[in-house]
Amino acid sequence: MSSIDSQRRVLSGMRPTGRLHLGHLHGVIHNWLVLQHEYECFFFVADWHALTTHYETPHTIEDNVWDMVIDWLAAGVSPTAATLFVQSQVPEHAELHLLLSMITPLGWLERVPSYKDMQENLTEKDLNTYGFLGYPLLQSADILIYRAGLVPVGADQVAHVELTRELARRFNHLYGKSADFEDSVKAAIVKMGKKVGKLYDELRRKYQEQGDQGALEKAQALLMEQQNITVGDRERLYGYLEGSGKIILPEPAAKLTPAARMPGLDGRKMSKSYDNVITLRDSADEVSKKIRTMPTDPARVRRTDPGDPDKCPVWQFHEIFSSDETKGFVRQACRSAGIGCLDCKKPVIDAVVRELTPIRERARHFEENPDMVKAIILEGSEKARDTARDTLQDVRQAMGLNYR
Ligand code: TRP
Ligand code: SF4
Repeated sequence: MSSIDSQRRVLSGMRPTGRLHLGHLHGVIHNWLVLQHEYECFFFVADWHALTTHYETPHTIEDNVWDMVIDWLAAGVSPTAATLFVQSQVPEHAELHLLLSMITPLGWLERVPSYKDMQENLTEKDLNTYGFLGYPLLQSADILIYRAGLVPVGADQVAHVELTRELARRFNHLYGKSADFEDSVKAAIVKMGKKVGKLYDELRRKYQEQGDQGALEKAQALLMEQQNITVGDRERLYGYLEGSGKIILPEPAAKLTPAARMPGLDGRKMSKSYDNVITLRDSADEVSKKIRTMPTDPARVRRTDPGDPDKCPVWQFHEIFSSDETKGFVRQACRSAGIGCLDCKKPVIDAVVRELTPIRERARHFEENPDMVKAIILEGSEKARDTARDTLQDVRQAMGLNYR
């Protein structure tokens, strides 16, 4: 239903939680590094989302924003491959959020599973606010304003993408039939030039009057080649081809991020709230110290006691960082008490240090040049705004709000 064009656009955001750790790197970030070369990617810092839970301490957000952006850049997220921006620097998100709020049934928001969960778990905060209820609606605006086709998220966010799909459908249903639609289609056809415009009309007629599938495909291919029309125009011309004429906001799909297998230093999931993380900027000494003091199989009280790797969090690190050869050796030598735990940890320490050293060096470079980081975000935010404005213009027009 939505065009190939917007299906190729990826959007994802992270709340500014400050410095990233190995769990982020081996989950979200590695995923982004692949996506940025395969799709048109928009990655952003969801700072307004942080405000939904931290409205009493808004001044703590800024440092977390820059720390996170520095870690993205240091880890290889590229401002030339992807558009990197900060949500609050693209105020268009807020306008779309407001407009969508008009058509969002309260029940849809109250039913989102994370809503009650978080309200019950974060009892130290008063989350009886509109902003908190509207969290997933703001997220929908984030996605829809770029007409993104794919939204890489963790399993906990799939319900939010589902809500986004429902809202897009409701929006298109309510406002996709406006009289203005035909006008903007005509204008888009003119933009393609006489020859292409005529060809498009012919192919459309062949498809609609004779059901000629080949003509539909040709027309779609023709649209894909056009350089001088906007994504919005392309969406409209796609919709017009198939006779729906209603797709102002295409429905996105969630793209599940493969779960990170990275355990924390204590064997639980790596998470700042468990205080069991290795951050991307930890020095070699810090990494070494953290791993050397990791708990191991409690059965290995003495060096001569045999152990079981399956009961040891260090083994989970081997699974991620070690070669088959090392892994084979570790399993055998642990069980036979052939090595001490410190020996066993050594290759893990080396591997983590090897992975983090270039990241830490790049991070230092950005720490020393904060203006550069700000310039990257300024440029990304400008670029994002251009796209966001296009969508918003279509939205206003569809709703009959373009009387300025
Ligand atoms: N809610 C997401 C999270 O907590 C962050 C987020 C905000 C987001 N807006 C988004 C993710 C849009 C994907 C798309 O991780
Ligand atoms: Fe864990 Fe390695 Fe010690 Fe075995 S030898 S208990 S796998 S640290």
